[in-house]
Amino acid sequence: MRPEEKLIQNHELTRMEYRELFDKVGDKETTERLAEEAVRLRKRYYGTKVYTRGLIEFTNYCKNNCYYCGIRGGNKNAIRYRLTKKEILDCCENGYELGFRTFVLQGGEDPYFTDDRMVEIIQEIKKQYPDCALTLSIGEKSYESYRRYREAGADRYLLRHETASDAHYRMLHPENMSLANRKQCLYDLKSLGYQVGAGFMVGSPGQTNADLAEDMIFLKELEPQMVGIGPFIPHHDTRFASEPAGSVEKTLFLLSVIRILLPKVLLPATTALGTMDPQGREKGLAAGANVVMPNLSPVKNRKQYELYDNKICTGEEAAECRGCLSKRVASVGYQLVNERGDAAEYIRCFRRKPDCQSVPDH
Ligand code: SAM
Ligand code: FES
Repeated sequence: MRPEEKLIQNHELTRMEYRELFDKVGDKETTERLAEEAVRLRKRYYGTKVYTRGLIEFTNYCKNNCYYCGIRGGNKNAIRYRLTKKEILDCCENGYELGFRTFVLQGGEDPYFTDDRMVEIIQEIKKQYPDCALTLSIGEKSYESYRRYREAGADRYLLRHETASDAHYRMLHPENMSLANRKQCLYDLKSLGYQVGAGFMVGSPGQTNADLAEDMIFLKELEPQMVGIGPFIPHHDTRFASEPAGSVEKTLFLLSVIRILLPKVLLPATTALGTMDPQGREKGLAAGANVVMPNLSPVKNRKQYELYDNKICTGEEAAECRGCLSKRVASVGYQLVNERGDAAEYIRCFRRKPDCQSVPDH
């Protein structure tokens, strides 16, 4: 049986079969078959709804030095900023008025934001916006820190695993970081009841199809509620400045594969995908994605959160970003919705109908 048919039937493959499947990137028939099935599954669990998450990039200070990242601590040319608590709350206020019901606080690993400061910010956001979900994306912390944020009200956590292969992880990160710790963080977050997002860059330097097979095996084992993937894009102040960017075609192929692997997963059409192709996010939706993450950060800081070169949406106000995305999503037959958009399994659980399979329709 062809690997794509086997994936559609079993929702997983062996390492060898994944490699065989990824060798077919570029094959039109396989790509279309995977996308068709991915869209069918996404419609089954989420209808034509596309969920929004308002992204607040609240600090670009970082103590880490991931080799691919424009805001890594070692980049002396990065112009650093951090938002005050008031500025963060202003972003939420603006976002709430625009209809956002999920806020994502993302930043580098900035020692200024101690656990006490984070807890204060989380509690204040949850107090002012009890009907909103709060997602954190602030890197690797101890179990105790994650526990405190969760108790303060954080609902979700995004921590891309970056690559599930040890050798590849070493090519992308300095000695003091480890894949084992990154994975442990993800399991800690899950055990604390967070809705968890993992993920990786497509086409990061040194990535092979064997590495991607490891990513699939790891994702199936972890079963995250969200998977963020986007093409690697070089940044001029990193050692990977002259490396080629990841391909849009392969990212779309992988979005479909991940939708089939984890049918109920929340899958963003990322800004990196939109940066590589003006129609990238629309193509992402057509490949099985169902989330977009417009920027709510203050316009004055947006260019400074420069993870890679030529990042889009750094000039617009939040309202323009939302308006633009709303039109783009509608142009391919979907609707941007304001709900907090929990993963399908959580929606079911909230509605206390454990046997129900048709989540979006009631
Ligand atoms: N510090 C947090 C962390 O490490 O999870 C969150 C911020 S980090 C900048 C968010 C994500 O940006 C990373 O997980 C990585 O996959 C992505 N990223 C960083 N540099 C990138 C690049 N050059 N191209 C595409 N994505 C990149
Ligand atoms: Fe820390 Fe990129 S190296 S956010």
